[in-house]
Amino acid sequence: MYKIVSIPGDGIGPEVVAGAVAVLRQLSAKHGFEIVIEEHPFGGASYDLHGEMLTTATLEACRKCDAVLLGAVGGPKWESLPHEHKPEAALLKIRKELGLFANLRPAKVYDALLDASSLKPDVVQGTDFLVFRELTGGIYFGQPRGFDENKGWNTMVYERHEVERIARLAFEAARKRKGEVISIDKANVLEVSQFWRNVVHTVHADYPDVKLSDMYVDNAAMQIVRNPKQFDVIVTGNLFGDILSDIAGMITGSLGMLPSASIGTKHALYEPIHGSAPDIAGQNKANPIATIASAAMMFEHSFKKPEIASEIYRAIEAALAAGLRTADIAAPGDPVVSTTEMTDAIVRHLGA
Ligand code: NAD
Ligand code: IPM
Ligand code: MN
Repeated sequence: MYKIVSIPGDGIGPEVVAGAVAVLRQLSAKHGFEIVIEEHPFGGASYDLHGEMLTTATLEACRKCDAVLLGAVGGPKWESLPHEHKPEAALLKIRKELGLFANLRPAKVYDALLDASSLKPDVVQGTDFLVFRELTGGIYFGQPRGFDENKGWNTMVYERHEVERIARLAFEAARKRKGEVISIDKANVLEVSQFWRNVVHTVHADYPDVKLSDMYVDNAAMQIVRNPKQFDVIVTGNLFGDILSDIAGMITGSLGMLPSASIGTKHALYEPIHGSAPDIAGQNKANPIATIASAAMMFEHSFKKPEIASEIYRAIEAALAAGLRTADIAAPGDPVVSTTEMTDAIVRHLGA
C-alpha cells in the first residue's frame, strides 16, 4: 500500500494534480496495488480556508505519508501579503521541515516534441541531463534578510555538510549515467561559491571514476541554450538551480514538461518545476505532463519501482506520438487539447 498526500495548491495546481491522480488510480487498478491518496490544502487555497498557508495538519500529513505530490502555489491574490506570509514562503517551509535538500530536475527531450522547442531540433535532439539543485540552503534561507525604505538584503551561506550531501548524490547519480558532473557556481565573484567549489572537489576524491568540471553560472546559462547535449549531471545551489532549470524547460518545449523530485533522508515530495500559471488557471488549458512525470519519479525514487515509472513515461510518449498537444507545446496550426483530454489520453495509453 502506498500512502500519498496530495497538496494541489493554487492556480493550475489542482488541474495538473488531478491529471497525476488519474494516472495513479489507473496504475493501481491495472496492477492491483493499493494507493491511498489524501488531499490537503496548501498555499493560497489553505490561507483562504484556514488563514494559514501551511497548517500543522497538512505538514503532519506530509510527515506521515510515503510521498507527497504537490501542484504549485502562489498567485496575484496573495502577492501583496508580507513576505513571510506569502504562499512561496510556505513552500520553502515545507521543503525545510521535511528536509528535502536535493531537488532533481531531469531535462529530457521527447522526440515527438522536437519542433515544440524554441531552439533548432538538431540542437535539442538527444538532450538528457539531470540537475541537482540544492533546495534547503543558500540565499533562499540565509540570515539576515529583509528590506526597509532604503535598502534590501539577503545572505548567501553554504555550510560544508550542505554542499557535501548534494555533491554526493550528484556523483552517485553520474555513476549510473555518463559519469560526468558539472558543478555550477560564481566562484570568480562570490566567496560562498569558491567554498562550494572547494567542497565539491573534496567530495570528488571519493568518486575518481566520475569526471568533474566547473562552470560559471552565466556561461552555463549560455551553454544550456547553445549545446544542451554537453551536460550529463549538473550540481548547483538553490538560486542558480532555480533559474537554470527554467531555461532547461524551454529546451524540452515547455515548462509544462519538466518534473522534479525533492528528496531528503526521510521524506520525498514530487512537484512540477513550473508555477501556478495564473494566466491560464481554471481554463483546462494547462499541460499536466510535468506533474504526471513527477508521479513517475515518485515510483523511481520513493517506491523503487522503475518499471512502473517507465510505463508512465511510455504512456506520455505514446500520447505525444499520437499528436496530442496542449497549447504550450502546440505548433502553429496544430489542433490543441485540454488538460483533461491530455490526461485521458495518457491514462488510455497506460492500458487496463
Ligand atoms: P509559472 O511557471 O507559473 O508560469 C510561467 C509561464 O509558463 C506562464 O505563461 C504559464 O502559463 C506557463 N506555464 C507554466 N506551467 C504551465 C503548464 N503546466 N502548462 C502550460 N503552461 C504553463 O511562473 P510565474 O508566472 O512566474 O509565476 C506564477 C506564480 O507561481 C507566482 O506566484 C510564483 O511565485 C508561483 N510559482 C510557484 C512555483 C511552485 O509552486 N513550485 C513555481 C514557480 C512559480
Ligand atoms: C520553484 C519555484 C519556487 C522556488 C518558488 C515558488 C518559491 O520557483 O519551485 O522552482 O524558487 O524554488
Ligand atoms: Mn522556479
